[in-house]
Amino acid sequence: MSATKPDTADLKRDRKAKARSKKRLGGGALEGNRANSAREQKLYQNYKDAEWGFINHWYPALFSTELADGDAEGIKICGIPIVLRRAKGKVYALKDQCLHRGVRLSKKPLCLSDSTITCWYHGYTFDLESGELVSIVAAPDDKIIGTTGITSYPVEEVNGMIFVFVKEDDFDEDIPPLASDLPIRYPENNERFPHPLWPDTPSVLDDNAVCLGIHRTGFSNWRIAVENGFDAGHLLIHKDNPITLAKDMSLPMGIKCTNPEGMVPIEDDDGPKGFLQLFYSSDHFVPVLENKVLDMKVDGVAGRPYRTSVVVPGVLMVENWPEEHVVQYEWYVPVTDDTYEYWEVLVRVCPSEAEREAFRYRFDYLYEPLFLEGFNNCDLFARDNMQDFYADGTGWDDEQLADMDASVILWRKQASRFARGIAARPRGVAGALKATSQQMRDTAAGEAPAYRVRKAPKIL
Ligand code: FES
Ligand code: FE
Repeated sequence: MSATKPDTADLKRDRKAKARSKKRLGGGALEGNRANSAREQKLYQNYKDAEWGFINHWYPALFSTELADGDAEGIKICGIPIVLRRAKGKVYALKDQCLHRGVRLSKKPLCLSDSTITCWYHGYTFDLESGELVSIVAAPDDKIIGTTGITSYPVEEVNGMIFVFVKEDDFDEDIPPLASDLPIRYPENNERFPHPLWPDTPSVLDDNAVCLGIHRTGFSNWRIAVENGFDAGHLLIHKDNPITLAKDMSLPMGIKCTNPEGMVPIEDDDGPKGFLQLFYSSDHFVPVLENKVLDMKVDGVAGRPYRTSVVVPGVLMVENWPEEHVVQYEWYVPVTDDTYEYWEVLVRVCPSEAEREAFRYRFDYLYEPLFLEGFNNCDLFARDNMQDFYADGTGWDDEQLADMDASVILWRKQASRFARGIAARPRGVAGALKATSQQMRDTAAGEAPAYRVRKAPKIL
């Protein structure tokens, strides 16, 4: 270690000077030189208000393999209960809250025809395509039939993933294409965003793309999770990770932005909205490899040029990661205001069966256990541990961000400008009201609040 420790008197003087520049904020917090000044915060008020997520966007719902033909599964996105049903190969999505008395259809799916789903309680029966109430088992002549229904949601299934357009009940605009809520694509963006160091980054939408991944529930607000994904200062949490050591990675402690043009806004009319960070470019970023004050140094030698981007409603793309020809996508899908579904998906274009098999092999034995679980579990841990501070909403006012958080602030502003809607607190949904007796009973029985519906036992 060659770092010299600073003089203690210098440090004390520095601390005193900084203390003089501090100002009191409401609630006892100190303003200091924080990057999220009150003026800045006004520019992302929509984001601060989006505790239940951004609505009228495409979100991943399930992997194709999680929904067999004839099956129905219940999930929750932006507080909205949604039942997915696959009939004759096609996937449909309806609001999973019976019109009659509100039970979830997916709790005990009853599918009496290929075009309907029936509530297991009194038999309200809904058309899968439109959500219209087409019959009632217990009252086939009731005059309510044909006059009402539940919301249906557009679905796209592509390369092994099922996406749902989660919308407000009265959304009546044209449904935007899925591509507008996915990261930018290559090679069409090569000229704008050249990346001379590695091959074209694949997309979920590419021909022959294979999407392999996992999803699990994280216990924090979704915004905390998104921000962790591209955070330029958070690499410290990965420092002692086994894969960092095993690959002798020169993983910096942080990445300092020296030229703000290295954070490029993405805001094409018909395309995704967000921004891209040119981490690989030494003209815009320098890695923090040493901290003299704390006598720390990065030891590894294997550097890896990569680039990240994030687009609304919260989709991360890490190019050239974990390896060349592979891209890591992450979604942080709002479930309630304190849970999100954490999706990690690796994509590679595999035109032949042999390539698909090789990718699957590396996924099973390297990427999934050591990267998606091993490496990213550090992120999950960090997010869960931020939740207390943000749970009552005051964390968004009291946090003291620094210059290294410039990308976090840029994301908040972009999301505030371009999100299509702010999800309202849901009505009659678990999680909207904290700690009901039913939730406490479920928790005591070992059922954590979760994304997916746990079905009723066959015999009650
Ligand atoms: Fe669904 Fe009565 S609650 S039919
Ligand atoms: Fe991380």
